[in-house]
Amino acid sequence: MTSQIQKELPDTLLRLAITVPGILRVEKSPSQIDSTHALDSFKVNSLGPMLLMKHLSPLLPTKSSPPFTNTPFNDLDGQQPALPSHAIYAMMAARVGSVSDNATGGWYSYRASKAAVFQLAKTFDLYLRRRSRDRALAVAMHPGTVQTDFTKDYWAGRDMLQPGDAAARLLRVICSIPTGVDDGRGRCWDWKEEEVRP
Ligand SMILES: NC(=O)c1ccc[n+]([C@@H]2O[C@H](COP(=O)([O-])OP(=O)(O)OC[C@H]3O[C@@H](n4cnc5c(N)ncnc54)[C@H](OP(=O)(O)O)[C@@H]3O)[C@@H](O)[C@H]2O)c1
Repeated sequence: MTSQIQKELPDTLLRLAITVPGILRVEKSPSQIDSTHALDSFKVNSLGPMLLMKHLSPLLPTKSSPPFTNTPFNDLDGQQPALPSHAIYAMMAARVGSVSDNATGGWYSYRASKAAVFQLAKTFDLYLRRRSRDRALAVAMHPGTVQTDFTKDYWAGRDMLQPGDAAARLLRVICSIPTGVDDGRGRCWDWKEEEVRP
């Protein structure tokens, strides 16, 4: 995968990556856990982002790469945020992957496999701090509850964000992650710019 991209886009650095694989297999009690379904969840939700990270990381800038030019863009809300001068590597987690936020239980395989994404973002960011310094950072994200096929069993009677709105908000958030002292790297941020603690 890496060599194919490098062949098609020579001398091109990865500036913005958003990895989104995710499936939900619902278990309300331990007796409902099915090993095949649970393994699918870990494959897609944990191993998926891990392998994307493996293959995409060589494309990110290194500490000797020149900064990107700040690039304003029109987002879906008509606002004009700017892509920062560093690269952003963002992985879609989920609030329910937070251990500290877990007040209701259930969804064993989804929670456990998404908890891994918080750890991946932190660990990958520590790697980037050494390899790329302030030229690239990694974060995890929570998009809010969004009206996609993913949530269709829960659409009735619930307020949900529309996909375009959630995407525009997340993009604004990850473009404004502070770097330097007391930075926001390696953490999970939601669509309201609030941290979701692991
Ligand atoms: N919707 C929400 O309220 C919500 C809340 C919290 C977190 N999330 C997370 O946000 C992400 C995107 O969800 P969504 O709402 O946009 O749902 P979605 O439309 O169902 O998207 C799921 C994504 O996962 C990919 N995927 C599914 N099975 C895969 C497999 N076996 N191998 C590789 N990729 C696979 C899909 O790829 P294809 O399009 O190619 O099938 C798609 O890109 C997910 O990680 C989800 O856990 C969503």
